[in-house]
Amino acid sequence: MERELALEIVRVTEAAALASAQWMGRGLKNEADQAATSAMRAMFDSVNMKGTVVIGEGELDEAPMLYIGEKLGIGNGPDVDIAVDPLEGTSIVAKGHPNAMAVVAVADRGTLLHAPDMYMEKIAVGPEAAGLVRLDDPIEKTIDIVAKMTNKRVNDVTVIIQERERHQELIERIRAKGARVKLFGDGDVGAAIATALPHTGVDLFIGTGGAPEGVISAAALKCLGGDMQARLVPYTDEEFERCKKMGLEDPRQILYLDDLVRGDDAIFAATGVSSGELLEGVRFLGGDVAQTDSIVMRAKTKTVRYIKAHHHLEHKPHLVME
Ligand code: FBP
Repeated sequence: MERELALEIVRVTEAAALASAQWMGRGLKNEADQAATSAMRAMFDSVNMKGTVVIGEGELDEAPMLYIGEKLGIGNGPDVDIAVDPLEGTSIVAKGHPNAMAVVAVADRGTLLHAPDMYMEKIAVGPEAAGLVRLDDPIEKTIDIVAKMTNKRVNDVTVIIQERERHQELIERIRAKGARVKLFGDGDVGAAIATALPHTGVDLFIGTGGAPEGVISAAALKCLGGDMQARLVPYTDEEFERCKKMGLEDPRQILYLDDLVRGDDAIFAATGVSSGELLEGVRFLGGDVAQTDSIVMRAKTKTVRYIKAHHHLEHKPHLVME
Protein backbone atom coordinates (compact mmCIF):
# COMPACT_ATOMS: atom_id res chain seq x y z
CA MET A 1 0.00 0.00 0.00
CA GLU A 2 1.20 3.52 -0.73
CA ARG A 3 1.86 5.59 2.35
CA GLU A 4 -0.25 8.49 1.02
CA LEU A 5 -3.29 6.28 1.50
CA ALA A 6 -3.19 6.83 5.27
CA LEU A 7 -3.77 10.55 4.88
CA GLU A 8 -6.46 9.99 2.27
CA ILE A 9 -8.31 7.63 4.63
CA VAL A 10 -8.36 10.14 7.46
CA ARG A 11 -10.30 12.53 5.21
CA VAL A 12 -12.90 9.80 4.93
CA THR A 13 -13.33 9.39 8.70
CA GLU A 14 -13.32 13.17 9.18
CA ALA A 15 -16.20 13.53 6.74
CA ALA A 16 -18.25 10.83 8.48
CA ALA A 17 -17.60 12.36 11.90
CA LEU A 18 -18.50 15.89 10.77
CA ALA A 19 -21.76 14.72 9.22
CA SER A 20 -22.88 12.53 12.13
CA ALA A 21 -21.82 14.86 14.95
CA GLN A 22 -24.58 17.23 13.89
CA TRP A 23 -27.06 14.53 14.98
CA MET A 24 -25.65 14.29 18.49
CA GLY A 25 -28.25 14.18 21.24
CA ARG A 26 -31.25 14.25 18.91
CA GLY A 27 -32.37 10.74 19.81
CA LEU A 28 -32.22 9.64 16.16
CA LYS A 29 -29.59 6.92 15.83
CA ASN A 30 -30.53 5.78 12.32
CA GLU A 31 -30.32 9.32 10.96
CA ALA A 32 -26.92 9.80 12.61
CA ASP A 33 -25.69 6.53 11.10
CA GLN A 34 -27.11 7.43 7.70
CA ALA A 35 -25.37 10.82 7.73
CA ALA A 36 -22.03 9.18 8.57
CA THR A 37 -22.47 6.48 5.94
CA SER A 38 -23.38 8.87 3.11
CA ALA A 39 -20.53 11.25 3.91
CA MET A 40 -18.03 8.40 4.16
CA ARG A 41 -19.25 6.83 0.93
CA ALA A 42 -18.98 10.13 -0.96
CA MET A 43 -15.45 10.82 0.27
CA PHE A 44 -14.25 7.34 -0.72
CA ASP A 45 -15.00 8.32 -4.32
CA SER A 46 -11.99 10.65 -4.28
CA VAL A 47 -9.46 8.16 -2.91
CA ASN A 48 -6.81 6.73 -5.16
CA MET A 49 -7.26 3.00 -4.62
CA LYS A 50 -9.09 -0.08 -5.83
CA GLY A 51 -11.04 -0.91 -2.69
CA THR A 52 -13.54 -3.66 -1.88
CA VAL A 53 -15.71 -3.45 1.23
CA VAL A 54 -15.30 -6.65 3.27
CA ILE A 55 -16.82 -5.32 6.48
CA GLY A 56 -19.52 -2.75 5.99
CA GLU A 57 -23.09 -1.76 6.60
CA GLY A 58 -24.50 -5.16 5.60
CA GLU A 59 -25.14 -7.32 2.55
CA LEU A 60 -26.21 -5.67 -0.73
CA ASP A 61 -29.91 -6.35 -0.06
CA GLU A 62 -29.70 -4.77 3.42
CA ALA A 63 -27.60 -1.68 2.78
CA PRO A 64 -27.72 0.78 -0.11
CA MET A 65 -24.14 1.89 0.39
CA LEU A 66 -20.91 0.60 1.91
CA TYR A 67 -22.34 -2.89 1.48
CA ILE A 68 -20.11 -5.95 1.48
CA GLY A 69 -18.53 -6.37 -1.93
CA GLU A 70 -18.99 -2.72 -2.95
CA LYS A 71 -16.09 -1.29 -4.93
CA LEU A 72 -14.69 1.98 -3.63
CA GLY A 73 -12.10 4.48 -4.81
CA ILE A 74 -11.04 5.95 -8.12
CA GLY A 75 -9.89 2.58 -9.41
CA ASN A 76 -6.15 3.31 -9.62
CA GLY A 77 -3.70 2.59 -6.87
CA PRO A 78 -3.49 -0.30 -4.43
CA ASP A 79 -5.92 -3.21 -4.42
CA VAL A 80 -7.24 -3.24 -0.86
CA ASP A 81 -9.80 -4.71 1.55
CA ILE A 82 -11.81 -2.10 3.39
CA ALA A 83 -13.55 -2.43 6.75
CA VAL A 84 -15.79 0.45 7.75
CA ASP A 85 -17.85 1.45 10.72
CA PRO A 86 -19.04 4.93 9.70
CA LEU A 87 -20.51 5.46 13.15
CA GLU A 88 -19.15 3.19 15.88
CA GLY A 89 -21.67 3.82 18.63
CA THR A 90 -24.91 4.86 16.96
CA SER A 91 -26.85 4.94 20.26
CA ILE A 92 -24.11 6.99 21.89
CA VAL A 93 -24.54 9.78 19.38
CA ALA A 94 -28.32 9.65 19.65
CA LYS A 95 -28.03 10.08 23.45
CA GLY A 96 -25.14 12.54 23.41
CA HIS A 97 -22.88 10.12 25.29
CA PRO A 98 -19.08 9.87 24.96
CA ASN A 99 -16.92 7.51 22.83
CA ALA A 100 -18.49 7.56 19.34
CA MET A 101 -16.06 7.48 16.41
CA ALA A 102 -16.00 7.06 12.64
CA VAL A 103 -13.53 4.27 11.81
CA VAL A 104 -11.95 2.67 8.75
CA ALA A 105 -9.36 -0.08 8.39
CA VAL A 106 -7.63 -0.78 5.09
CA ALA A 107 -5.32 -3.69 4.28
CA ASP A 108 -3.94 -5.50 1.25
CA ARG A 109 -6.61 -7.35 -0.72
CA GLY A 110 -7.56 -10.66 0.87
CA THR A 111 -5.97 -10.00 4.26
CA LEU A 112 -8.90 -8.92 6.47
CA LEU A 113 -11.12 -11.60 8.00
CA HIS A 114 -14.59 -11.25 6.48
CA ALA A 115 -16.22 -11.31 9.89
CA PRO A 116 -19.98 -11.81 9.72
CA ASP A 117 -22.38 -9.71 11.76
CA MET A 118 -22.45 -11.80 14.92
CA TYR A 119 -20.90 -11.70 18.37
CA MET A 120 -17.22 -12.33 19.05
CA GLU A 121 -15.36 -12.98 22.29
CA LYS A 122 -12.31 -10.74 22.48
CA ILE A 123 -9.27 -9.96 24.60
CA ALA A 124 -6.81 -7.16 23.82
CA VAL A 125 -3.64 -5.79 25.38
CA GLY A 126 -0.94 -3.26 24.56
CA PRO A 127 2.62 -4.05 23.44
CA GLU A 128 3.94 -4.92 26.94
CA ALA A 129 1.77 -8.03 27.28
CA ALA A 130 1.57 -8.87 23.54
CA GLY A 131 1.94 -12.60 22.88
CA LEU A 132 1.39 -13.49 26.54
CA VAL A 133 -2.36 -13.38 27.15
CA ARG A 134 -4.86 -16.01 26.03
CA LEU A 135 -8.59 -15.78 25.58
CA ASP A 136 -9.12 -19.04 27.47
CA ASP A 137 -6.96 -18.27 30.48
CA PRO A 138 -8.80 -17.49 33.71
CA ILE A 139 -9.13 -13.73 34.05
CA GLU A 140 -7.21 -13.81 37.34
CA LYS A 141 -4.15 -15.27 35.58
CA THR A 142 -4.43 -12.72 32.77
CA ILE A 143 -4.51 -9.85 35.25
CA ASP A 144 -1.35 -11.19 36.93
CA ILE A 145 0.43 -11.34 33.55
CA VAL A 146 -0.66 -7.83 32.61
CA ALA A 147 0.38 -6.48 36.04
CA LYS A 148 3.82 -8.07 35.69
CA MET A 149 4.40 -6.90 32.13
CA THR A 150 3.21 -3.33 32.73
CA ASN A 151 5.14 -3.15 36.00
CA LYS A 152 2.00 -2.28 37.97
CA ARG A 153 0.45 -3.62 41.13
CA VAL A 154 -2.65 -5.73 40.48
CA ASN A 155 -4.62 -3.00 42.27
CA ASP A 156 -3.49 -0.49 39.64
CA VAL A 157 -4.33 -2.59 36.58
CA THR A 158 -7.32 -1.15 34.71
CA VAL A 159 -9.59 -3.53 32.84
CA ILE A 160 -12.07 -2.00 30.41
CA ILE A 161 -15.25 -3.95 29.80
CA GLN A 162 -18.60 -3.24 28.18
CA GLU A 163 -21.43 -2.79 30.67
CA ARG A 164 -23.65 -5.70 29.72
CA GLU A 165 -25.46 -8.39 31.68
CA ARG A 166 -23.41 -11.05 29.87
CA HIS A 167 -20.23 -9.66 31.49
CA GLN A 168 -21.51 -9.51 35.06
CA GLU A 169 -19.69 -12.60 36.33
CA LEU A 170 -16.45 -11.49 34.69
CA ILE A 171 -16.77 -8.04 36.25
CA GLU A 172 -17.25 -9.54 39.69
CA ARG A 173 -14.18 -11.76 39.27
CA ILE A 174 -12.03 -8.82 38.13
CA ARG A 175 -13.17 -6.83 41.17
CA ALA A 176 -12.53 -9.78 43.49
CA LYS A 177 -9.01 -10.06 42.09
CA GLY A 178 -8.44 -6.44 43.06
CA ALA A 179 -8.03 -4.81 39.64
CA ARG A 180 -9.84 -1.62 38.61
CA VAL A 181 -12.83 -1.95 36.31
CA LYS A 182 -13.69 0.69 33.76
CA LEU A 183 -17.16 0.10 32.35
CA PHE A 184 -18.27 1.63 29.06
CA GLY A 185 -21.68 1.75 27.46
CA ASP A 186 -20.95 1.35 23.76
CA GLY A 187 -18.05 1.48 21.34
CA ASP A 188 -15.70 -1.44 21.89
CA VAL A 189 -13.29 -0.51 19.10
CA GLY A 190 -12.07 2.49 21.10
CA ALA A 191 -11.96 0.41 24.27
CA ALA A 192 -9.78 -2.31 22.70
CA ILE A 193 -7.40 0.25 21.16
CA ALA A 194 -7.09 2.11 24.47
CA THR A 195 -5.02 -0.80 25.86
CA ALA A 196 -2.20 0.08 23.45
CA LEU A 197 -2.19 3.84 24.07
CA PRO A 198 -0.52 4.61 27.42
CA HIS A 199 -2.21 7.98 27.91
CA THR A 200 -5.57 6.22 28.38
CA GLY A 201 -4.40 4.32 31.48
CA VAL A 202 -6.23 1.21 30.23
CA ASP A 203 -4.30 -2.08 30.45
CA LEU A 204 -6.66 -4.85 29.38
CA PHE A 205 -9.84 -5.15 27.32
CA ILE A 206 -12.05 -8.21 27.58
CA GLY A 207 -15.60 -9.14 26.64
CA THR A 208 -18.01 -10.13 23.92
CA GLY A 209 -19.04 -7.61 21.26
CA GLY A 210 -19.54 -7.31 17.52
CA ALA A 211 -17.31 -9.42 15.24
CA PRO A 212 -16.91 -6.68 12.59
CA GLU A 213 -15.71 -4.31 15.33
CA GLY A 214 -13.25 -7.03 16.36
CA VAL A 215 -11.51 -7.07 12.99
CA ILE A 216 -11.33 -3.27 12.89
CA SER A 217 -9.83 -3.23 16.40
CA ALA A 218 -7.30 -5.87 15.34
CA ALA A 219 -6.07 -3.66 12.48
CA ALA A 220 -5.47 -0.83 14.95
CA LEU A 221 -3.73 -3.09 17.45
CA LYS A 222 -1.45 -4.37 14.70
CA CYS A 223 -0.41 -0.78 14.00
CA LEU A 224 0.29 -0.17 17.70
CA GLY A 225 2.17 -3.41 18.42
CA GLY A 226 -0.61 -4.61 20.72
CA ASP A 227 -2.26 -8.03 20.65
CA MET A 228 -5.70 -9.52 20.41
CA GLN A 229 -7.33 -12.95 20.43
CA ALA A 230 -10.92 -13.63 19.49
CA ARG A 231 -13.52 -16.32 18.85
CA LEU A 232 -16.76 -16.03 16.92
CA VAL A 233 -19.99 -16.80 18.76
CA PRO A 234 -22.39 -18.31 16.22
CA TYR A 235 -25.76 -19.20 17.80
CA THR A 236 -27.89 -20.60 14.98
CA ASP A 237 -27.19 -23.29 12.35
CA GLU A 238 -27.26 -20.55 9.75
CA GLU A 239 -24.57 -18.61 11.63
CA PHE A 240 -22.41 -21.75 11.87
CA GLU A 241 -22.80 -22.19 8.10
CA ARG A 242 -21.80 -18.59 7.49
CA CYS A 243 -18.59 -19.09 9.44
CA LYS A 244 -17.79 -22.21 7.43
CA LYS A 245 -18.39 -20.36 4.17
CA MET A 246 -15.82 -17.81 5.32
CA GLY A 247 -13.29 -20.61 5.34
CA LEU A 248 -13.32 -21.35 9.09
CA GLU A 249 -13.44 -25.11 9.35
CA ASP A 250 -14.11 -24.78 13.08
CA PRO A 251 -16.26 -21.68 13.65
CA ARG A 252 -15.28 -21.72 17.34
CA GLN A 253 -11.54 -21.74 16.71
CA ILE A 254 -9.34 -19.16 18.38
CA LEU A 255 -8.56 -16.31 16.01
CA TYR A 256 -5.14 -14.78 16.56
CA LEU A 257 -4.18 -11.27 15.50
CA ASP A 258 -2.71 -12.66 12.27
CA ASP A 259 -5.97 -14.49 11.51
CA LEU A 260 -7.99 -11.31 11.96
CA VAL A 261 -5.55 -9.24 9.88
CA ARG A 262 -3.16 -11.33 7.80
CA GLY A 263 0.07 -9.86 6.47
CA ASP A 264 2.19 -7.14 7.98
CA ASP A 265 0.48 -4.05 6.66
CA ALA A 266 -2.75 -2.29 7.57
CA ILE A 267 -3.93 1.29 7.91
CA PHE A 268 -6.37 2.38 10.59
CA ALA A 269 -8.02 5.78 10.89
CA ALA A 270 -10.59 7.08 13.33
CA THR A 271 -12.14 10.49 13.96
CA GLY A 272 -13.96 11.28 17.19
CA VAL A 273 -17.65 12.07 16.94
CA SER A 274 -18.21 12.50 20.69
CA SER A 275 -15.24 12.75 23.06
CA GLY A 276 -13.89 9.47 24.44
CA GLU A 277 -10.91 7.39 25.55
CA LEU A 278 -8.93 8.11 22.42
CA LEU A 279 -10.15 11.24 20.74
CA GLU A 280 -12.05 14.46 21.23
CA GLY A 281 -15.39 14.69 19.54
CA VAL A 282 -16.27 17.15 16.79
CA ARG A 283 -16.39 20.69 18.17
CA PHE A 284 -18.42 23.39 16.50
CA LEU A 285 -16.30 26.46 17.16
CA GLY A 286 -18.71 29.10 15.98
CA GLY A 287 -19.19 30.63 12.57
CA ASP A 288 -18.80 27.88 10.04
CA VAL A 289 -15.75 26.27 11.68
CA ALA A 290 -15.74 22.75 13.08
CA GLN A 291 -12.73 20.99 14.62
CA THR A 292 -12.02 17.28 14.28
CA ASP A 293 -9.59 15.08 16.17
CA SER A 294 -8.30 11.97 14.41
CA ILE A 295 -5.76 9.21 14.74
CA VAL A 296 -4.26 7.49 11.72
CA MET A 297 -1.63 4.78 11.82
CA ARG A 298 0.07 2.16 9.75
CA ALA A 299 1.17 -1.34 10.77
CA LYS A 300 4.19 -1.56 8.46
CA THR A 301 5.95 1.52 9.80
CA LYS A 302 4.16 1.78 13.18
CA THR A 303 3.75 5.52 12.62
CA VAL A 304 0.90 7.00 14.64
CA ARG A 305 -0.38 10.44 13.73
CA TYR A 306 -2.86 12.55 15.63
CA ILE A 307 -4.49 15.08 13.35
CA LYS A 308 -6.48 18.07 14.51
CA ALA A 309 -8.23 19.79 11.63
CA HIS A 310 -10.33 22.91 11.25
CA HIS A 311 -13.02 22.59 8.62
CA HIS A 312 -14.88 25.53 7.10
CA LEU A 313 -18.29 24.03 6.58
CA GLU A 314 -19.18 26.78 4.12
CA HIS A 315 -16.86 24.92 1.73
CA LYS A 316 -18.34 21.52 2.60
CA PRO A 317 -22.08 22.11 2.15
CA HIS A 318 -22.68 18.40 1.50
CA LEU A 319 -21.67 17.67 5.13
CA VAL A 320 -24.04 20.19 6.68
CA MET A 321 -27.34 19.00 8.11
CA GLU A 322 -30.34 20.53 6.34
P1 FBP B 1 -23.33 0.11 17.05
O1 FBP B 1 -22.54 1.28 16.66
O2 FBP B 1 -23.64 -0.77 15.88
O3 FBP B 1 -24.52 0.51 17.85
O4 FBP B 1 -22.39 -0.81 18.00
C1 FBP B 1 -22.01 -0.37 19.27
C2 FBP B 1 -21.41 -1.51 20.09
O5 FBP B 1 -21.21 -1.06 21.42
C3 FBP B 1 -20.12 -2.08 19.52
O6 FBP B 1 -18.99 -1.30 19.81
C4 FBP B 1 -20.08 -3.43 20.19
O7 FBP B 1 -19.22 -4.31 19.53
C5 FBP B 1 -21.53 -3.85 20.12
O8 FBP B 1 -22.29 -2.64 20.09
C6 FBP B 1 -21.99 -4.69 21.26
O9 FBP B 1 -23.27 -5.17 20.98
P2 FBP B 1 -24.52 -5.12 22.00
O10 FBP B 1 -24.99 -3.68 22.05
O11 FBP B 1 -25.53 -6.02 21.37
O12 FBP B 1 -24.06 -5.58 23.33
